[in-house]
Amino acid sequence: MKVVVLTGAGISAESGLATFRDADGLWEGHRPEDVATPHAFRRDRRLVQRFYDERRASLARVRPNAAHAALARLEEALGDDLLLVTQNVDDLHERGGSRRVLHMHGELRRVRCQRCEARHEWEGTLADEPRCPSCNRRRALRPDIVWFGEYPHGMDEIHEALTEVDVFAAIGTSGVVYPAAGFVDYAHAAGATTVELNLVPTPNSDFHTTYEGPATEVVPRWVDHLMGS
Ligand code: APR
Repeated sequence: MKVVVLTGAGISAESGLATFRDADGLWEGHRPEDVATPHAFRRDRRLVQRFYDERRASLARVRPNAAHAALARLEEALGDDLLLVTQNVDDLHERGGSRRVLHMHGELRRVRCQRCEARHEWEGTLADEPRCPSCNRRRALRPDIVWFGEYPHGMDEIHEALTEVDVFAAIGTSGVVYPAAGFVDYAHAAGATTVELNLVPTPNSDFHTTYEGPATEVVPRWVDHLMGS
């Protein structure tokens, strides 16, 4: 059985990380066009660096939850027949035990050099414009995040997996940002069973099944059901 799981900010909400579009979400405090586009970075580099510095620092204050752990259990059972794709840039899937995670929007805990393209694991800040450890240039490091208008990572691998998927599950995502929001359509075209797990059913979705409730309750229940236990 081939399974593709797509997660969004909702799976990390109960760990204490803000979502984007819920009440008091990240996009309430900042407009995406001000902190999450290449133009914003050119216009106000320091504001963007500090926005991601704050989010990177928050990782040390949160822990993975039962939903992350349940998906690690699913990976243990399915091995390479599971592809876990996340829109999230936090590291909670990895800290929850998942070993193969496709971060289509990049990762907070990595930075990328705009001059030599080197990527580095990074726990500190960028607002003070540290030198790139590889090429030693200043004002060259940026968050390794896919901004609006940039191309998401792993699309070939994702589309290949969606052509032969048996079960597609979307967990904790509002389904408004493409290309991720269109994955369910590819899954339907492949004849897959589609499942949505969310606090509330997303308005514009047509999944076969919806598990409604907090991820820490519905994801373990769904994984147990899928694994036949
Ligand atoms: N359990 C399950 N679902 C939850 C929970 C919870 N405890 N809390 C919130 N949700 C759901 C909300 O109902 C909503 O559908 O999580 C979803 C969060 O939606 P968004 O805030 O839009 O986050 P996401 O879908 O991940 O956004 C996608 O948009 O801004 C870009 O790049 C950013 O990756 C992000 C993308």
